[in-house]
Amino acid sequence: MPVTIEPRGDLALVVIDNPPVNATSKAVRAGLMEAAEKVDADPAVRGAVLLCRGRTFVAGGDVSEFDGEPQPPHLPDVVARIEAAAKPWLAAMHGTAFGGGLELALGCRWRIAAKGTRLGLPEVTLGLIPGAGGTIRLPRLVPLELAARMASQGQPITAALAREAGLLDAVVGGELEAEALTYLAAALTAPLPPRTLNRPAPAVADQQFWAAQRAAADKKLRGQTAPGFALQSLRNALGMPAPEALAQERQIHLNLRKAPESKALRHVFFAERAALKAPVDAKPGPLEAAGVVGGGTMGAGIAVAFLDAGLPVTLLERDQASLDRGLAAVARILDGAVKRGRLSQADRDARWGRLAGSLDTAALGTADVVVEAVFESLEVKREVFGRLDAACKPGAVLATNTSYIDPNAIAAATSRPDAVVGLHFFSPANVMKLLEVVRTDTVSDQTLATAWALARKLGKTPVLAGVCDGFIGNRILKVFRREAERLLLSGAHPGDVDHAMRAFGLPMGPFEAQDLAGLDIAAAMRAASRERGETVFAPVADRLVAAGRLGQKAGCGWYDYEAGDRTPRPSDEVAEIIADEAAKAGAERKDLSTETIQRLILGPMVAEGRQIVAEGIAASPAAVDLVEILGFGFPRWRGGLMHWGEAAGL
Ligand code: NAI
Repeated sequence: MPVTIEPRGDLALVVIDNPPVNATSKAVRAGLMEAAEKVDADPAVRGAVLLCRGRTFVAGGDVSEFDGEPQPPHLPDVVARIEAAAKPWLAAMHGTAFGGGLELALGCRWRIAAKGTRLGLPEVTLGLIPGAGGTIRLPRLVPLELAARMASQGQPITAALAREAGLLDAVVGGELEAEALTYLAAALTAPLPPRTLNRPAPAVADQQFWAAQRAAADKKLRGQTAPGFALQSLRNALGMPAPEALAQERQIHLNLRKAPESKALRHVFFAERAALKAPVDAKPGPLEAAGVVGGGTMGAGIAVAFLDAGLPVTLLERDQASLDRGLAAVARILDGAVKRGRLSQADRDARWGRLAGSLDTAALGTADVVVEAVFESLEVKREVFGRLDAACKPGAVLATNTSYIDPNAIAAATSRPDAVVGLHFFSPANVMKLLEVVRTDTVSDQTLATAWALARKLGKTPVLAGVCDGFIGNRILKVFRREAERLLLSGAHPGDVDHAMRAFGLPMGPFEAQDLAGLDIAAAMRAASRERGETVFAPVADRLVAAGRLGQKAGCGWYDYEAGDRTPRPSDEVAEIIADEAAKAGAERKDLSTETIQRLILGPMVAEGRQIVAEGIAASPAAVDLVEILGFGFPRWRGGLMHWGEAAGL
């Protein structure tokens, strides 16, 4: 039974026990309905405490139920029943009181929470709005601005803030059950507070207020429609009789459940959860200390990711000057986080205290995991792995961050190829959530299990990738760039392509992105590919690099820039190069619509993704989706490349 009643003197404890997160599944809703009836009918009971077993209060709805027709009893009816109860209820929360959980609490007369509890209405992050009164009851308890922020941005708040704002009656430090019973017993000696829905709604806010809320939400959840609906429902709460506002909220919620945006976001939600489960059944090794080889762009970021996760890190470099540069790069990242208010000075210092630099491979002898991020050269990497093999303790995971080199060839440089795995981080490595775990032919299950445990420790989402050129993400990136350039020869301008991809929902178009990163980076990758005997199609980019048009840092790239101004301006020189290359290729040039550009770029990317799955490089289309969303900024609300391609009928 997921809901039980435990008598406590003249009070009743209504206990939800529905692991893992006490979601409001059908059985829970039915159990709560029944509990409300029983409590009301029991003359010995004066009031009820609602609490949850396990690690959290109700953390939301049961997302797996969202695909089907809603099953009675419906959550809004359950909340209404609790709110109408003759014997008043108190919600005692811990962990995360999210979505339907918070809505249940809003139906209670009192709300208390353990220290550290987080409360929120995250429905918009699944393309939904609350469906059981969240947007109607919340503004009756907290300032409108906070209610709007919670409902339209989906960000949780702390118990301390909730107490200050009027959402909680108390934050308690002791044992929650005992505190709740004591609180309720005392509260019942005073006049009852009004039911939430009977409290007055705040005064109607002006146009400017709503516009500001919308802008703030759009910044957080770019491209999504759900935040606008959440705000609409809040406006209803202010301007309509409560029953009408509740009915409208429910209707919007049910409509959104069936809409592509929510289906896409739910797909990603499940894909992310599934990704955290290791693909092998083995026990991970210990993860107490880490090593990083190479303190360049990636090595410094990877070191910070380890430090953020609480691990001590030894950074190994090839000479003192490079080591100094690497340590300075780590310091710069940490100091930047302090400056932006993301990290306290004390936490920064603690991280710095866990970092050591060295020029001697023997210093990595105690590390449980070492990530190599030296130059992209097989020769250099094999030499490094030979040394790691000699210095590292048995059982240590030896990982390479290579982008394109075959990790099997790196593993072969050691006497323990079972311990070698690819851990492909994305830049900036301390920020980006994606970790491609590249499975070598020889890797052991234990090494893979440890890689999974490490990803979790670092707060990253691991995706298993097989060995091929570019693995999953960079292989698709190549197609993206190739097709973008092909469109230039067919008549599009760089600005048309960038605009089309931004309109689709990418944070940046391919050409402005290259101008920002520097065209030399992609050029180096092309050079390496050609060295491996591949043909690479980049006739225009090659000529831009040859002409010194390396991007923003050179004042010109795919676009022209004026000094001190990052605004991209169309370039006559680039237009001439494009026209010249198009003539050479015999390409017919014509105007291309935004939609045509999107399809002509994304279609081949989807085809490549399908090929990657067919070859077994990615385990599923969902794995490709995660790579594109978490590594390349593909819009989450479109569900990822493959989910979108399927929905678009490609
Ligand atoms: P980088 O050139 O910024 O840094 C490489 C560092 O390795 C330098 O600090 C160098 O001094 C050091 N190093 C070279 N040989 C060494 C040796 N034998 N022992 C110790 N240290 C040595 O390069 P970056 O961009 O950090 O890339 C490193 C690796 O990560 C490459 O394999 C690259 O393909 C891969 N990668 C790069 C990404 C990027 O966005 N830059 C993304 C994902 C992977």
